[in-house]
Amino acid sequence: MSPLLRVVVLLSLLGLVLSQSSSSNQPGWPEVVPVAVRSPYFSCWLFTSTQNTEGTFAQWAQFWGYVNGNDPILGWVGLVKVDNATYQWLGEPGFTPANLTNVRLTPTRTIFEMQAGPVNLTITYLMPIEPSDWVQQSLPFSYVSLEVASADGFSHDVNAYADISGEWLSGNRSAEIQWSTVVGDDIVYHEISLASPTPFQEINQQANDGVMYHAVTQGPNVTWQTGQDKVCRGQFSSTGNLTNSLDTNFRPLSTNFPVFAFAVSLGPIKSTAAPIVWSLGYVRNPAIQHSTPSGDTQLRAPFFLTQYSSVVDAMTSFVMNYPTTSQRASEFDQNLTQAATNISSQYAGILSLAPRVAFGGLDITVSNGTDGQLNASDVKTFMKDMGNSRRVNPVEVLYQAFPMYLYLNASFAKSLLSPLFEYQDSALYHNSYAAKDLGTNYPVVAGDNQTHNEGVEQTGNMLIMTLAHARISGDGSLISEHYGLLKTWADYLINNTLAPTNDQQSADGEGIANSTNLSVKGIIAIRAMSELSRAVGDTDSVELYSRQASAFIATWKSLALSSDQQHLLLDYGDSDATWSLAYNLYADRLLDLNLVDPSIYQKQTTFYQSIAAGHAFGPPLDSNHTDVTNAAWLLFTSATASNETLTETLTTAVWNHIFNHVDGGILSTTYDPVQGQLSSGSASPGNGAMFAPLALSMQNTTISVSAPLSATSGTDPSTTTGPLDSGTTKSKHLDVSAIIGGVIGGVIGGVCALGLLITALLVWRRKSRQPEQLVVEPFIHRTPVLPPLLHPPPPLPQQQPDSKESIVGSLSPRPDSGEPPSTLRRNPDSITPASSQPTASSRSRSNRSRGSRPSGSNSRSDVRELRDEVENLRRVMQELGVDRLAPPPEYTSARDSVT
Ligand SMILES: *[C@@H]1O[C@H](CO)[C@@H](O)[C@H](O)[C@H]1NC(C)=O
Ligand SMILES: *[C@@H]1O[C@H](CO)[C@@H](O)[C@H](O)[C@H]1NC(C)=O
Ligand SMILES: *[C@@H]1O[C@H](CO)[C@@H](O)[C@H](O)[C@H]1NC(C)=O
Ligand SMILES: *[C@@H]1O[C@H](CO)[C@@H](O)[C@H](O)[C@H]1NC(C)=O
Ligand SMILES: *[C@@H]1O[C@H](CO)[C@@H](O)[C@H](O)[C@H]1NC(C)=O
Ligand SMILES: *[C@@H]1O[C@H](CO)[C@@H](O)[C@H](O)[C@H]1NC(C)=O
Ligand SMILES: *[C@@H]1O[C@H](CO)[C@@H](O)[C@H](O)[C@H]1NC(C)=O
Ligand SMILES: *[C@@H]1O[C@H](CO)[C@@H](O)[C@H](O)[C@H]1NC(C)=O
Repeated sequence: MSPLLRVVVLLSLLGLVLSQSSSSNQPGWPEVVPVAVRSPYFSCWLFTSTQNTEGTFAQWAQFWGYVNGNDPILGWVGLVKVDNATYQWLGEPGFTPANLTNVRLTPTRTIFEMQAGPVNLTITYLMPIEPSDWVQQSLPFSYVSLEVASADGFSHDVNAYADISGEWLSGNRSAEIQWSTVVGDDIVYHEISLASPTPFQEINQQANDGVMYHAVTQGPNVTWQTGQDKVCRGQFSSTGNLTNSLDTNFRPLSTNFPVFAFAVSLGPIKSTAAPIVWSLGYVRNPAIQHSTPSGDTQLRAPFFLTQYSSVVDAMTSFVMNYPTTSQRASEFDQNLTQAATNISSQYAGILSLAPRVAFGGLDITVSNGTDGQLNASDVKTFMKDMGNSRRVNPVEVLYQAFPMYLYLNASFAKSLLSPLFEYQDSALYHNSYAAKDLGTNYPVVAGDNQTHNEGVEQTGNMLIMTLAHARISGDGSLISEHYGLLKTWADYLINNTLAPTNDQQSADGEGIANSTNLSVKGIIAIRAMSELSRAVGDTDSVELYSRQASAFIATWKSLALSSDQQHLLLDYGDSDATWSLAYNLYADRLLDLNLVDPSIYQKQTTFYQSIAAGHAFGPPLDSNHTDVTNAAWLLFTSATASNETLTETLTTAVWNHIFNHVDGGILSTTYDPVQGQLSSGSASPGNGAMFAPLALSMQNTTISVSAPLSATSGTDPSTTTGPLDSGTTKSKHLDVSAIIGGVIGGVIGGVCALGLLITALLVWRRKSRQPEQLVVEPFIHRTPVLPPLLHPPPPLPQQQPDSKESIVGSLSPRPDSGEPPSTLRRNPDSITPASSQPTASSRSRSNRSRGSRPSGSNSRSDVRELRDEVENLRRVMQELGVDRLAPPPEYTSARDSVT
């Protein structure tokens, strides 16, 4: 399809969709676009809604967040003087606003096309994505460039101008700032800082400890000035130049708003020979305060400082390298857009935003050695739970974003996972399941050893991510270094995943007993553990976990399907009217495990297609939560489709959400599937999930480990991959308990059988609770083949009392997010955050019509189902053999901490 044709198709599709919810004409670009987004605290966005009938565009750029009901403005003004008239191309008007004619997006760029009197303007906001160069990727700098072309064929006298204010430095608008201007041979820059920075603290979600830079390349026609906003802009408007003079009256950033300006005079031209480029940067050093597992408090520096001796050197190279950086970005754009177009027509549109927002939630850091030298081999990447909270490396968001890191450079995955592993493999962590983050106070990485109720969810996430990273990178170092921990986790899943209780919450904050979608994640993760065991040569465990997963998946399949066997239910044995987006099946595809029967994918594909009808913004999360969906899970689901039609349907739905103009927030991952409006997760790195279909195309490689079970201490650094990994693998002997764990792991088979017994009991109990149900033959009591149980079974899945409803049954913001709702609204009054938040009551499980099982559930088939279960159980018991039932010491503590 030609680009023009595609635009036409997109526009007409959009028109079709929007005619259902809105009668206004909406342009074919998103309501809000990134203009300077490189890190969690350098995240500037622009609303593109047109304000009047002439199509006048005039908006302040904004920080991603939402400050006390006010727009968190980041002062940034762009002007152009054409002959004697001054036009504004960025910021709220003080001058004649240029007309916005088009907005185009590429994965690295947001491009505004405008008309300013007799000339056309092209303004390009370039945020490089540099997955194979971590120095470049970690530079928190961004470009904006201006090109001018005469629209009437005549030459015009052109001068260009841009300034920034101190609002980029603090969410406290009374904060005192100070500044200086340095005129060098290569570049001219303004450096602006806080008089009293407060390290690692946020004020209204902005950091309060960074330094802001505004820079241009030096040239004969470049002028600069610092001073009050009106003064600098007025000077430019009347003369086309600035005065090269400093205002040294340091003051609060909002007192006579000091601005930091550059102008470039071009003389009479028909068009610019090269773009006029301004660079902006926001640098925090130290970026992260990390409490290491050994008890040190480490201040971590941004990675780029490993290559440059100072921020100014780094900035100089960033400013001077614009032509090559821009060229590389174009190549990246082309490559990604091509790959996306091969998958579905709307996919390129989605991927034109996802990488910037997903990388924009990261800080790539290194530690500072005792010698004062940065340790380039100690790379750790931290992710902020943007749009929701200040959680550090939130595991479920990491899991959403993972396909992007895998696709662009799997080494990122390791640098994100390794701090989680190191912490949980230390004496500070005792839970038998995986942590859900590394703390709740970004950029302070304190660790998080609290008990929590996402054990299956987060443990499954960790095992799946660990294998995904290893298979695509070939780097098995995380596996060999933390094999014992991985086994503890897999064993936890064996005890907890087959019939998860309603104390087990999903990534969506939902606690539904016997959730088919949550259960299958844990089962896939157990199968993944088998592959992890294979990588380290622990052959007993390979067999054990694989068999365990196969037995579980057979039981799962027999319980999870509707009575007509045509789709997966929300939870085992529930009404046929229930369902959910079974997005956790994606892991089976990603890891190439083929654990789940192919027929399930086909059935789900047909089923999703039927529920997608009438949902322009995509089907909801599940049959209980019809007012919320999630773009990340829709893309995971689309990647499990058995045909291209469904992939197209679901990617189009997400495209509609992103490109509509009904307050979808800043690419919020969670949104209302009816209106497309935001719910939470604005600017979330979870948008990396948009790469889910692409990540399936990645080649697997052989996993190399530096310390296989049979090996001694020898380490082969060449086995690691990625630009930065070589030599960083530390060999660590596998601990004896891990090996013993492998040997005695056979007991897990017993636990598996136990799980089946529980399941049978559960089926029996559920049915026995239904008064209209059959009288169940009590053949559970006739299963003497079962050996005596040596430890208590996992708690039976049961509904919890209603007092828990508001937490476990709600999709409201996570309880630990002490933050305002992640909304960024043009007009905070139009929709209050409260009204857009899912309320506990509207989302609570109690809404479910548990008592109203359709009469279709046939009692005879129930008996057959139950009987099959028990047969299944017997078979597995026989297979496993009673002799395997010696208890390993780990299991007793494995469950206690969940409750
Ligand atoms: C610009 O203004 C000056 C003085 O106000 C006037 O002499 C000149 O003709 C004007 N130029 C144009 C192109 O309008
Ligand atoms: C914007 O477009 C309107 C209508 O075409 C026109 O009258 C106005 O002069 C334009 N504004 C600019 C700054 O070019
Ligand atoms: C200026 O922009 C308009 C659309 O806004 C376009 O039709 C025209 O061709 C452009 N002129 C030049 C010289 O780029
Ligand atoms: C603006 O600066 C340019 C180059 O520095 C100079 O040629 C021009 O005369 C200046 N214009 C005014 C109005 O000062
Ligand atoms: C600098 O300005 C002068 C006069 O305005 C103009 O002739 C010249 O082309 C400009 N040089 C550059 C590099 O823009
Ligand atoms: C684009 O793809 C080509 C061919 O696969 C590859 O050689 C090149 O490195 C890629 N460039 C970027 C910037 O991703
Ligand atoms: C590293 O630590 C030394 C003091 O030990 C300090 O002077 C230096 O600034 C630190 N470097 C970075 C990049 O933070
Ligand atoms: C949990 O972590 C804190 C520090 O973050 C530590 O003081 C405490 O001892 C840890 N708890 C356990 C049980 O290890």
